[in-house]
Amino acid sequence: MSSKQLRKKFLSFFKKRGHKIVPSSSLLPDDPSVLFTTAGMQQFVPFLTGRITPLYRKACSVQKCFRTDDIEEVGDNFHHTFFEMLGNWSFGDPKAKDGIGDGYFKKEAIKFALEFLLNELGLDKKRLYVTIFKGDKEIPKDTEAKELWIKYGIPKDRIFEFGRKENFWGPTGEVGPCGPCSEIHYDLTGKPCKREDKCAPNCPCGRFIEIWNLVFMEYEKKIDDQKSGIRKYYYELLPQKNIDTGIGLERLTAVVQNKRSSYDTDLFSPIGRELENLVGGTMSDSFFNRKEVRIILDHIRAICFLISDGVLPSNVEQGYILRRLLRRIIRYGNTLNLGQKSLINLAKKVVSVYKDTYPELSKKENDILTIISSEYEKFSKALERGLRQFNKLISKIPSNETGISGKQAFELYTTYGFPLEFTKELASERGIRIDEKGFYKELEKHKAISGKGREKKFGGHGLGEARVFSKEDEEKIKRLHTATHLLHQALRDVLGNQVKQMGSDITPERLRFDFSYPKKLTSEQIEKVEKIVNEKIKENLPVKVEEMKLERAIESGALGFFRAKYPEIVKVYSIGSYSKEICAGPHVSHTKELGEFKIIKEEASSAGVRRIKAVLKKV
Ligand code: ALA
Repeated sequence: MSSKQLRKKFLSFFKKRGHKIVPSSSLLPDDPSVLFTTAGMQQFVPFLTGRITPLYRKACSVQKCFRTDDIEEVGDNFHHTFFEMLGNWSFGDPKAKDGIGDGYFKKEAIKFALEFLLNELGLDKKRLYVTIFKGDKEIPKDTEAKELWIKYGIPKDRIFEFGRKENFWGPTGEVGPCGPCSEIHYDLTGKPCKREDKCAPNCPCGRFIEIWNLVFMEYEKKIDDQKSGIRKYYYELLPQKNIDTGIGLERLTAVVQNKRSSYDTDLFSPIGRELENLVGGTMSDSFFNRKEVRIILDHIRAICFLISDGVLPSNVEQGYILRRLLRRIIRYGNTLNLGQKSLINLAKKVVSVYKDTYPELSKKENDILTIISSEYEKFSKALERGLRQFNKLISKIPSNETGISGKQAFELYTTYGFPLEFTKELASERGIRIDEKGFYKELEKHKAISGKGREKKFGGHGLGEARVFSKEDEEKIKRLHTATHLLHQALRDVLGNQVKQMGSDITPERLRFDFSYPKKLTSEQIEKVEKIVNEKIKENLPVKVEEMKLERAIESGALGFFRAKYPEIVKVYSIGSYSKEICAGPHVSHTKELGEFKIIKEEASSAGVRRIKAVLKKV
């Protein structure tokens, strides 16, 4: 069965069982506390917490996901940065009488999963193993799931109990919906390793592969913001019980196609063959087992998808991750003599393999190719010089124990564009230590000089700290930030006060603003919003800041939708008498500094949330 058929089969299986097929949301979620969409459930968070009444009770999707945690794992059989997740959901209590149909919980979720794997895909039941949550001080053991697995024919000796790390899932950010989970593992070899009886799911020998995670999402992790400043977390039962499941498509395809790794499946093999041609490879298994080959295949796919969702290389947040992948692929490409033109051909191949399923790749093909080219031009020369500098540095290090100092690593970053993780990798290949703390100290010094420091986001893996802006970029961000306030108010003027800010992300190139609104905006509405913002810019309104107690700020009508996150004393920024918002700033002093405002994109971000991207042009 091809991977295309597998996607289709999954969706139609759940459609037949009353699930709405929901398209994948963007890799950039509307949740400002996380960098990327890491799971299918992310676009449904408001439905899972019960804060928004769901539009449908049951849903299924094939979701584009990106996980930064796995960057260093790439190279083995099954870890990827970008991957696709098949998932099915039930939002809310099965017995809820709100007129939007029946939902389900553990029993049906388990039954559906087994039916799909055994009847639709024809997997061998004897190769299926499952795990359940064994319970701890806060959350009880999931005996119900265990009994259900037994009831549906999984023998007791193939059911294993694990703790938090393996069998409690979520939240994706600091807080949010989560719950105990059951995982279905597939026995790839049928043979235990040296650990014999102890060789069970999650054994490091690689005999088992986790294929499906069923999350019984009935908790919400919350934060108790103590006055003392100590953050305490606690779990509360949600007002409703949800099902959230996820299958890694790459893994399931490998199992179904009987392959040892996802690189051998049809999701990668056409791209792999192209790479072989480009480097004059040997068309042998050993080629696809090489770490650098796998890294290139994984990263080129991820790079194409990130760019197609609007990520641009930069030194912050998502753009920093994209840059890291680009620089990594250039470096590994070098070892195979893979130049700029070859990388471009490889990217074209990714687009051609995936464009039927994800048309955004074709639409953004030009951007993808241009960005890869320009990053190559920027970095390939610096790479050579940086590697020379790196080798010089390590030849002078008296012992491996001394390692590379923070200052040296920081210099490699600022002068040669080596992200910290990149230098770390080079160093560890040679068994050399690196003073990471020292690097961050240097970065802090730099930030103090450039006057910027923002809160760390989750899912960044060291990334959050590496934000270095030039003075010029700082100014651009400031202008876009002020424009965001005008945009927010203009949206409320045109669409009504139901518009609430759901997220915001600003890079020196553009602003991105997510807000609650159920429908696509018409072109007239977009034009009206633009017109208002530009009028307010022309009026050259003064921007003023005042500090006050949060309660007073809210009473005075200042907009602020992240109440739980605000400190007691807040800053309130007013733009003339047009806009008033709680915000940390900084902002420009008069609106004329902004230039001309232009909306470049309006799209869905997640259920009930729209996203606008806009730029400022100098006039
Ligand atoms: N949200 C669950 C996961 O990502 C299904 O594993």
